[in-house]
Amino acid sequence: MAENHHSNIFPPAESVKNEAYVKSMEQYSEMYQKSISDPEGFWSKIAEQFYWESGTTGKFLDYNFDVRNGPIYIKWMEGAKTNLCYNAVDRHVANNLGDRVAFYWEGNSLDDDGQITFNELKERVCKFANVLKSLGVVKGDRVAIYMPMIIDITVAMLACARLGIIHSIVFGGFSVESLSERLIGAQCSVLVTADGVWRGTKLLNLKDIVDNAVLKCEAAGHTVEHVIVCRHLLPSDEVVVGEGEEEPRPAVRPCRQLRIKWHAPRDKWWHELVEGASAECPPVWLDAEDPLFMLYTSGSTGKPKGVLHTQAGYMLYSSTTFKYDFDYHPDDIFWCTADVGWITGHTYVTYGPLLNAATSVMFEGVPTYPDPGRFWRIVEKYKVSKFYTAPTAIRSLMGFGDEHVVKYNRDSLKVIATVGEPINPEAWLWYYNVVGNKKCTVVDTFWQTETGGHVISPLPGATPTKPGSATFPFFGVVPVILNEDGTEVQGDGEGYIVFKQPWPGIMRTVYGNQQRFETTYFKKFPGYYTTGDGGRRDKDGYIWVTGRIDDMVNVSAHLLSTAEIESALVEHKAVTEAAVVSHPHRIKGECTYCFVTLKQGFTFTADLLHELRAQVRTKIGPFASPDFIQEAPGLPKTRSGKIMRRVLRKIAVGDKDIGDVSTMADETVVDKLFQLRPADA
Ligand code: PRX
Repeated sequence: MAENHHSNIFPPAESVKNEAYVKSMEQYSEMYQKSISDPEGFWSKIAEQFYWESGTTGKFLDYNFDVRNGPIYIKWMEGAKTNLCYNAVDRHVANNLGDRVAFYWEGNSLDDDGQITFNELKERVCKFANVLKSLGVVKGDRVAIYMPMIIDITVAMLACARLGIIHSIVFGGFSVESLSERLIGAQCSVLVTADGVWRGTKLLNLKDIVDNAVLKCEAAGHTVEHVIVCRHLLPSDEVVVGEGEEEPRPAVRPCRQLRIKWHAPRDKWWHELVEGASAECPPVWLDAEDPLFMLYTSGSTGKPKGVLHTQAGYMLYSSTTFKYDFDYHPDDIFWCTADVGWITGHTYVTYGPLLNAATSVMFEGVPTYPDPGRFWRIVEKYKVSKFYTAPTAIRSLMGFGDEHVVKYNRDSLKVIATVGEPINPEAWLWYYNVVGNKKCTVVDTFWQTETGGHVISPLPGATPTKPGSATFPFFGVVPVILNEDGTEVQGDGEGYIVFKQPWPGIMRTVYGNQQRFETTYFKKFPGYYTTGDGGRRDKDGYIWVTGRIDDMVNVSAHLLSTAEIESALVEHKAVTEAAVVSHPHRIKGECTYCFVTLKQGFTFTADLLHELRAQVRTKIGPFASPDFIQEAPGLPKTRSGKIMRRVLRKIAVGDKDIGDVSTMADETVVDKLFQLRPADA
């Protein structure tokens, strides 16, 4: 992608530009300069839109980004008291927006949908917050959420936020092992889940995964005291036979195959708990720097890190990036297809839109069910104007042909955005030409779990875009490109992408591990926050993110740690050593390619291959299942015993030009590895 920086430039779409908050690059530059030279002036103006129980008592911004000067810390608006849930829900009800739809919910099946207004959301959040209170959960406690894409997941999040409870959401595709590891890591005594969910034609028994994860916690000495189960699939009597009807209605959400086990008194039905709960629940006024949520993300050493975000900064940043990067206006219908279990869902399904009183679509299903036109059918159904998805979805849908797109009316679309991985120009152009009908602005947003919101992104009414470039920094963000030796690259050039000063949405620490926070993000280049990504700046100042430069692989916009997959593989009885590298993939962007060395007495059979894949699925989750696994009688290593991943990456793609191997202990292993490559790699 970096080579493509001479490609065409696309001006912002006229329809967007006419109504945009920021209409030109001059206006952007002016606002940007102010945001970095006077962060207090810039963000305090934005803060005026929100409700504060009391104002900042300390400095507006206080931080240390340089490990040489002591511990790293970042504080925005210290001492100010607010509540994010109040600002995302109650504030709009108080402003007479209570009847506005907060979410249109679209189920997995075509005939399954629903909606919720801000009034109803407030009532449901208050009731659920009262339930949490009644279970004895208080400010600072951690509650885990393992749920599908249903409105209840946002209710659970907001109820936590209302009380200052730190939510830790675990994506519904994680396995028993991963879920239990996260429950233990955050010491969660309450877990909120659902009975099950359909994803396309696949039925997921979430409750069963939860039961096993809780057992694993028990074995490790951690007790999950309450499991709150939202009834999503299992029918209630009222649902199955309607009033005045004799025959049960055909179930919208068939669940005959779903069987769940019940462990009283630990397990509790959500609907039974909220039945008697009061719809009044005063918000707890929290300090600007009190924690809001933690969210685990893969770490290059293998163990996931609990990224911690706090109240005021995240509120300012999620709402402001939402407003400007999608150029949100009150008549928009916004749709972010991401799962709430990832940061994109936290910031752009729940918090960003709700803080702006936006109406969004929330989708439970998958892009290809019942057919590859599903996304565009939904766009037509709800007249979506701002649409946000991942390049992997675009590449996959592109493969099914334009006819699935053009048969639906997409005139409502104005901004079509992407997130999660570099977008290749071919996919960008298809998105622009076919989905957007050449009249939308494509917004490629670069950011991370750690950054809380977009850090590099075009403004849809101002920025001329180049396919594959995330373009320019958001307000308050100062990106720098560094050489290996830590010097700043000026002008045109390539290197490490780092940030020089904090913006309000940056993570505050790794939950329970400040040391790891400093080592991962601030040690390599003192004075900067290191993203772990490489990139280049072209002669026009556009930034092109080229991908991870650490041992992480971005598979379908999900970040995976090669070390974590390696440790899953070596836990199999047949494996003595494993090395995992990234391999390009037409749809997923990247995929994992695993080299495994077997113990004596084991042979590399189809059955073993199957077991190894299953091993990774069980340890991490189905989405981490490796695409390629090959036998490696030996691995290329340096004389000091370090695995030469650079060489493995070449072997994975069949490139014989492996470069300098003068430090390799035994060069003969390379030929053998080339011979053993699977035919389809
Ligand atoms: O490598 C970058 C890639 O995704 C990583 C962050 O992953 P995660 O924390 O899971 O958050 C994903 C959603 C924000 C980054 O370090 N990445 C994300 N967006 C882009 C991207 N790479 C290139 N272009 C993007 N727009």
